[in-house]
Amino acid sequence: MRKTFIAGNWKMNLTQSGATELAAGLVAKLADNTTVEVAICPSFGFLSGVAEQLASSHISLGAQNLYPAECGAYTGELNAEMLLDLGCEYVILGHSERRHLPELDESNEFINLKIKSAIATGLKPILCVGELLEEREAGRTTTVVEQQLTNSLADITAEQIELITIAYEPVWAIGTGKVATPEQAEEVHGSIRAWLRDRFNDLVADTTRIQYGGSVKPENARELLGQPNIDGALVGGAALSTDSFAGIIENA
Ligand code: PGA
Repeated sequence: MRKTFIAGNWKMNLTQSGATELAAGLVAKLADNTTVEVAICPSFGFLSGVAEQLASSHISLGAQNLYPAECGAYTGELNAEMLLDLGCEYVILGHSERRHLPELDESNEFINLKIKSAIATGLKPILCVGELLEEREAGRTTTVVEQQLTNSLADITAEQIELITIAYEPVWAIGTGKVATPEQAEEVHGSIRAWLRDRFNDLVADTTRIQYGGSVKPENARELLGQPNIDGALVGGAALSTDSFAGIIENA
């Protein structure tokens, strides 16, 4: 049985006080929740302030990125050890904004290094995959997603993948208000699970959690999360308000 996992990606939003307030609000609102696993992923700068708010709660902390190297001359970057030290349990890797913003342009090979670096320290990656609108329209969704999985998870073993959550996020649905239909999402989730079965084994396929991300809101969460292969959600915009994020969790 896969425990539902909802993660909030706050992206580059909020201020220090806004971030700690939002975290405190969620802690209060979700105090009784033990059925759904919840994580929030603020900007690097707000991690320690948010960690303090989460200290005695069931909500986990995550980061939005890491740099795959040991300490040293990497101006502006944070590595997996630093994130663990700041209280992180999760790290979002391969988010479409990092893959597709032209100045960032992250490759699957670079994401693979990040995955390995997270796993080596015990940090749990949320690996994002998903197709562009033109790729979907050209009928290439499965090919694109499988290529991202194959290359981002190169050399990862069946034991190591236990730490990984996969997030299917169609790029055309992120921050656009245009959500994939439950059928569209379920179809890709099913193909990701089949890929896991093929690349690893039955146990990995049956236990790996696959989140859906892209304009998830309280109003569409129940139907999406009701699909057999959708085990949770990676939430952007709707994670920036206590009511909407808690609403998604209540509907999960
Ligand atoms: P969204 O973002 O919920 O605002 O579409 C999802 C994400 O980028 O993870």
